[in-house]
Order: sequence, then C-alpha cells, then structure tokens
Amino acid sequence: MFNKVSTILAVSAVSTMLAFGSAIAAPITIKFSHVVAENTPKGQMCNKFKDLVAERLGGKVVVEVFPNSQLFGDNKVLEAMLLGDVQLAAPSLSKFGRYTKALQLFDLPFLFKDIEAVERFQKSKAGQELLLATEKKGLIGLGYLHNGLKQLSSSKPLRVPADAKGLKFRIQSSDVLAAQFKAIKATPLKKPFSEVFTLLQTKAIDGQENTWSNIYSKKFFEVQPYITETNHGLIDYLVVTSTEFWKGLPEDIRVEVKKALDEAIAFGNSVAAQKAKGDRQTIIDSKRSEILSLTKEERTLWVEAMKPVWEKFEKEIGKDMIDAAFAANQ
Ligand code: LMR
Repeated sequence: MFNKVSTILAVSAVSTMLAFGSAIAAPITIKFSHVVAENTPKGQMCNKFKDLVAERLGGKVVVEVFPNSQLFGDNKVLEAMLLGDVQLAAPSLSKFGRYTKALQLFDLPFLFKDIEAVERFQKSKAGQELLLATEKKGLIGLGYLHNGLKQLSSSKPLRVPADAKGLKFRIQSSDVLAAQFKAIKATPLKKPFSEVFTLLQTKAIDGQENTWSNIYSKKFFEVQPYITETNHGLIDYLVVTSTEFWKGLPEDIRVEVKKALDEAIAFGNSVAAQKAKGDRQTIIDSKRSEILSLTKEERTLWVEAMKPVWEKFEKEIGKDMIDAAFAANQ
C-alpha cells in the first residue's frame, strides 16, 4: 500500500516537473570574454552591460563576463566565437587581421590627433561601414568602444626614433604595427596581451606600446622605467558577435540587448576619457616610471619615421578610407 502511494506521488511529481519545465524556457546565455582588467573602459563597459541586461531582461537573458583572458586570450576568442563557444567580445581593432584588412586603418601611426577625431570618424558613413568589414567571415561589429591613444614604454629613455633602434617591442597581432616598429629599426614581436607583463618583467623584451589604462591596470609601469608620451596610435575596440548568434536571437530580445549594449558602450567611453587622464596621473604619482614629454621637434622625428607605413598599406586599406579618417581631424 505504502509503495503504491509513494509510486503515485513520485510519478505525479515527475509529470508536474516536466509540465513546469516545458513552460519555462531556459534563459539565453551571452558569454562576454575579454582580456583586460575590470578597472578599465572595456571591463567597466562589460559589467554595465551585464547589469543592464539583468535589470531589463532578467530571466530571459543572462550575461556572463570573463575578464583577464580567463576564458579566451586575444588570439583565440574570434575562432571560439565562430564555434559558438562565446557570444560577445571586444578585441582591439588591431586583432582582426585574419578576418579583414580594412580595420588595419586604425593602426596607422599618427592618423588621429585625439579621441574626438576618432569618434567623429567612427560615427561617419565610412566609419559605420567598417563595422561590417568582417561580415563575410561570419562576424558583425555591433559598435566601437574607446580605450585611448598609445604611449611607448621601454627599459631605456626614448626621445627620438634612433633611441629605439635594435630594441624588442611587443605588439598586438597587426602587420601595420610590425611595419611601424621596423620603420624605426626596432624588432616587433606579436604576443598575446596576457604575456606582456612577464615578458617585460623578465626582460625578454625591452618595451611595448599601450594606453595609459592598460599600462596602469596591468602594472606595466612597475616594470618599465620610462614611458614616452607619444600619442602615436590608438587602441579602440570592435564589440563583435557572430552573425549566426545575432540573427538567431528573437527580434524583441535582439533590440533590447542592442539598446543595453549601446548604453554600456556610452558608459565605457566616459570611463575611457576619465582613465586616460586619471591612470596617467596615478602612474606619475607612483614615481615607478618616468614620463617623457616630447618637444615639437622630437615629435616631428617620430612622425617622419613612422608615417611612410601609410603608403605600404594604402592598397589593402583603401586610400579613400585613409583620407576620410584623416579628414576627421579637422
Ligand atoms: C593589447 O593587446 O595590448 C590590447 O589590445 C589589450 C586590450 O584589449 O586593450
């Protein structure tokens, strides 16, 4: 008797669970993988996006953020995205060389005079076109995010290009950046972001180029005695997803996710502006690294040495694109 009752109870519990289970769809999970620390423009943008989605789409969509190359390093994330193992990432615009040559534009040295010019160009028709540069490869850009202008850090003081001769610099995986360092007779080494600190600390390399925010948050300034304030290039990001994932989202969810992302990007951009000033000052105050400012004449020497790189990549990038980007400086 007891056995019969318990069997009936168990069967009805299972059928209730099954009915209940089928009525509640599992939430869509968006894994957002990135390589930087959380106290950076990208880290803050991702966390904001996660919070906005939780607030507005709680139960329907869950965002999981993986910072510090925890899930994928910068050389793997786009492959993983095409396999469906990660849904969102924001690699630097310098890391798309295997998918498009067009985004190499953003690596041309001394192309933009400040972030306002970058913003103007990215908002223009030509800039918006570039969001779709990787579409044929199954990836679409949902927006740009700023980090900031790059500085050169090194184990020795760099005032003029000749000071960099023979030194080894870590670069992101970009042929333009390789050409830029070759132009000043230095040796470029393409290495993942996660390896930079150790490479510098062990003196396997002499220097690297990065933004104030990355130099501060990854403690490069603690192992690099000199930082030359060159503002010679840009680290900005393409917030990217796979076309398959994006088009597969229900329309109403896609619209809400995009809205949350746009707001998170605007927030991340405001963090970028603060960090470009604040992290620079914190590094100066730390006295761990000496900041070298260039005279007008010294800066001209860097421009003259690096600018020939533009012509080398003009065909791959397109002269019209370069002109459109440069025109955003006015
Ligand atoms: C780098 O590799 O130096 C940067 O692209 C890291 C980042 O995502 O800001």
